[in-house]
Amino acid sequence: MDDPSDDREEVYAVDDGAASMDDDLDEPDDDAPRLVESALSLRERFRLVRKIGEGAFGEVHEGLDEASGERVALKLARLCGVPGNERDDGKSLPKAVLRELWCLQELVGEPHATQYLAHFPRGASLALVLEFCATDLQSVMAERDGGAPLPEAAARRWTRELLMGLEAVHGAGLMHRDVKPSNCLLTDGGVLKLGDFGQARPVERKVSLVDRTDPNYSHQVSTRWYRAPEILFGARVYGPSLDLWAVGVVLAELLHNFVLFEGHSDIEQLVVVFKKMGSPSKERWPSASALPDFAKICFPDAEPQDMEAYLPNATIGALDLLGRLLVLEPSKRDAPAAALGRAFFDGPDADRADLAAIVAETAIKVAAKPVGSSRYDDDDSW
Ligand SMILES: Nc1ncnc2c1ncn2[C@@H]1O[C@H](COP(=O)(O)OP(=O)(O)O)[C@@H](O)[C@H]1O
Ligand SMILES: [Mg+2]
Repeated sequence: MDDPSDDREEVYAVDDGAASMDDDLDEPDDDAPRLVESALSLRERFRLVRKIGEGAFGEVHEGLDEASGERVALKLARLCGVPGNERDDGKSLPKAVLRELWCLQELVGEPHATQYLAHFPRGASLALVLEFCATDLQSVMAERDGGAPLPEAAARRWTRELLMGLEAVHGAGLMHRDVKPSNCLLTDGGVLKLGDFGQARPVERKVSLVDRTDPNYSHQVSTRWYRAPEILFGARVYGPSLDLWAVGVVLAELLHNFVLFEGHSDIEQLVVVFKKMGSPSKERWPSASALPDFAKICFPDAEPQDMEAYLPNATIGALDLLGRLLVLEPSKRDAPAAALGRAFFDGPDADRADLAAIVAETAIKVAAKPVGSSRYDDDDSW
């Protein structure tokens, strides 16, 4: 079902339409001396301290802002050898990097999105300077003693902040498309910040009456276990509600410390989802039959299972919220604002100091391990 012809192959040259984004990667020219100067001063200002993350895009390092003494994260996004960047001339920004930069700049000032501070060229990479986060939700869950779930009060506060981050993302006309625990970063103070906008993109708004071309979004988005069922069925037209499905999967994981839908292929992923949520009948999911891959696979009829049976730690409020996010029909899922109004959020919140303690304990445990080891290694995130 995976179609390699997604929308990642496009690249933008830094000297064309993308020039409005302050790109300082091009050859120095007489018109832009101040940009080059500022890039040089940025390079001098931020020092790499240690590597903290690695991905297909490049590397993430802890950095030091020599001017202020503050820790920062330096995401070094490779400009050469990036899959899909056909121009690959070291001067063209791969589309994913360009989008990440755009999205980060759109979200400046949002308290629950990782904050963009600056960007500058560094060797064959573009360095994105981001506020430093001490750890992330995936690491928190992986380091819980004895695989213990999070206390509900902590899960509530962090889920609220994730939804607030998404509210800002969607409010800016964007879809995140890769919500999962490792992209929910946590500051030293215990505040959740949605990060990793490498797969984010604007929601297409211009559906002209004359030219009724549908948006043709990639369905190669999000990490399989958190991927909404419409994407698994190959949808090329979808909306921000795909992110809300992922929030439901994340919340269940925080409350139980297991991955709710753990499929090892796209088809198995659908099987696992339908086993719990019911097969895609006309009543449960009216729009499913229009999806590109719907008719390609036949699933046995299954009724939804009682969530309490497989989520025994979930309170009535949590089950109610999960039931409003994990909805097969995308148009029926709560939007972030609606989800934030649900009874689950009336319950007690964890103290910020308790959350900061969880973050500190996790960061110490993770720092003792080599970068890159993960219980999610079986996963196929791009
Ligand atoms: N602002 C940040 N502060 C601290 N660590 C970060 C920050 N951004 C990313 N990282 C670390 O780098 C890893 C990879 O970064 P991310 O932006 O998620 O890229 P990708 O998942 O596409 O490889 C993260 O899982 C996290 O461990
Ligand atoms: Mg990530």
